[in-house]
Amino acid sequence: MSNGGGLHAAVREQRGTAVPDRGEEAHEIDFNTPSVARMYDYYLGGKDNYAADREAARLVLGSAPSVPLAALENREFLKRAVHYLAAERGISQFVDIGPGLPTQGNVHQLAQQHNPGAKVAYVDNDASVLVHSRALLGGVPGVTLLPGDLREPDRILADPGLTGLIDFSRPVALLMTLVLHFVRPDDDPCGLVATYSEALCPGSFLVVSHVTGDNREPGMLAGVGAYDNASAPLILRTRSQVQEFFNGFSLIDPGVVFLSQWRPTGEYHAQGGTRWAYCGVGEKPGN
Ligand SMILES: C[S@@+](CC[C@H](N)C(=O)[O-])C[C@H]1O[C@@H](n2cnc3c(N)ncnc32)[C@H](O)[C@@H]1O
Repeated sequence: MSNGGGLHAAVREQRGTAVPDRGEEAHEIDFNTPSVARMYDYYLGGKDNYAADREAARLVLGSAPSVPLAALENREFLKRAVHYLAAERGISQFVDIGPGLPTQGNVHQLAQQHNPGAKVAYVDNDASVLVHSRALLGGVPGVTLLPGDLREPDRILADPGLTGLIDFSRPVALLMTLVLHFVRPDDDPCGLVATYSEALCPGSFLVVSHVTGDNREPGMLAGVGAYDNASAPLILRTRSQVQEFFNGFSLIDPGVVFLSQWRPTGEYHAQGGTRWAYCGVGEKPGN
């Protein structure tokens, strides 16, 4: 699903500047600073990553070799969560903040399998994500991609690209998977989530997954430092800290659990899996 050499070459020819699309600003791609989006692409076996990304990712893998499995588990969690929301709860609007580089089973593909009319807004602050996703998404009905930083909720929520597609008077699923751990405590991640949730009507959902260091040997966490020189630091949070993101939401069974434990299907077993990230889905209750 990645776009491969042609797009890479085109981007390089522009000396790191993606060509502006439809009058939008150009996005500078920094090939030398490890990008958290491209490191994740590497864990998932993608090819939209560069030497700096791979070097940082390998530092992580040196102490935590099961991280690629956790990345796959996260994609499977996302798939099950979108299936649950679209097929079982009738959700047809999704706002995905920090979607990452295009991969297999992107949210619009998962949602539109269940409801071809489903609408999906993607928001990311990484130039590589914007360039590669733009190439994939151009012209897909019901889908938009916005440059934006999670830490600026007022700006994102007022973006005409978002409000023109998503009707906030109807239920929305807000997806924040493997992204909140890139928000420092000083930026008040719980307060940010609360600001987004204020914009959601009752019957809307919040989907979160988040890396943890719970019950890890210190040696296994040595690779976390690799993120200090990346596009964002990695902040590990405990289960109760992850649960706090769901303040004001009713947690859907089984609550906040490890990735492979959230409503596993026949393919996955609740007892197996890594312990690298918690996840959960919450519903905003009625008035
Ligand atoms: C690890 S990837 C997760 C991708 C996808 N959500 C998933 O669960 O598979 C993290 C994504 O969050 C984005 N991101 C990190 N910090 C962000 C911020 N402050 N605002 C918007 N996006 C951010 C990164 O660029 C990257 O695309």
